[in-house]
Amino acid sequence: MDWGLQNRMHRMFSTASTNTVMLAVDHGYFMGPTRRLENARATITPLLPHTDALALTRGILRHAVDPTVTTPIVLRVSGGATVLKEDLSHEALTTSMEDAVRLNANAVAMSVFVGAPHEHESLVHLSELVDQGEEYGIPVMAITAVGKELEKRDARYLALACRVSAEIGAHLVKTYYCEDFGKVVEGCPVPLVVAGGPKLDSERAALELARNAIDEGAHGIDMGRNIWQSDHPVAMLKALRAIVHERATVREALEILTTEKAHSASRAPAATA
Ligand code: 5RP
Repeated sequence: MDWGLQNRMHRMFSTASTNTVMLAVDHGYFMGPTRRLENARATITPLLPHTDALALTRGILRHAVDPTVTTPIVLRVSGGATVLKEDLSHEALTTSMEDAVRLNANAVAMSVFVGAPHEHESLVHLSELVDQGEEYGIPVMAITAVGKELEKRDARYLALACRVSAEIGAHLVKTYYCEDFGKVVEGCPVPLVVAGGPKLDSERAALELARNAIDEGAHGIDMGRNIWQSDHPVAMLKALRAIVHERATVREALEILTTEKAHSASRAPAATA
């Protein structure tokens, strides 16, 4: 791995814990103005000081994040399908590596759709992106997307998707937590981070997901809705940080959450969507 690529990888992870807390705010690229991400700047700004890396598209980066921000940017560079279509796998690379460099991206990210109608295209796009990433020294994060088929999130499928992504050359893989997650970790030679998925029934459930993922070998989280759709997003992020970086128990994280809730402003209750 070239020095620049190693350096950019290192900047996303804590030296002490070797883990990362990424904030995912890229949902709009196929979901539109997702609930509580309608005003991206208002959602992102208070969370930034508690975030190790920020995952988003170039549009939201340019419009919602000040260029003075030093948080490493993980730039989503794939797209081309929306929730209005049945097949979400019909994606291509939508941002050039030159624009990623212009934006001072620390890493680039794209979805891979293993087993989906456009599996072949997404894997070939991943290989092209890795070639470009190696050329410019920019790490590539593969996202093992499942489209609308959330039930695909089992260890057998995810282990395959993560391994294939790493074999093609992804430097980092984002996937989902699942039962037997250790098997996914075991078969993947590059660091894994986990997404949260749709908002869970309770804060405890989201904290448990993070704790289990770290216990079973994840190098962090790249979480969105379970943070910014919370009534107390900053408190939630701080509780997750304690798990990811300090190996706090779920009980300790819940205590942090309670304390932080008392200090942080609550968002107005949102309509369900
Ligand atoms: C959207 C994504 C999201 O970044 C990823 O799913 C993480 O966010 P969440 O925790 O809300 O699932 O890749 O395509």
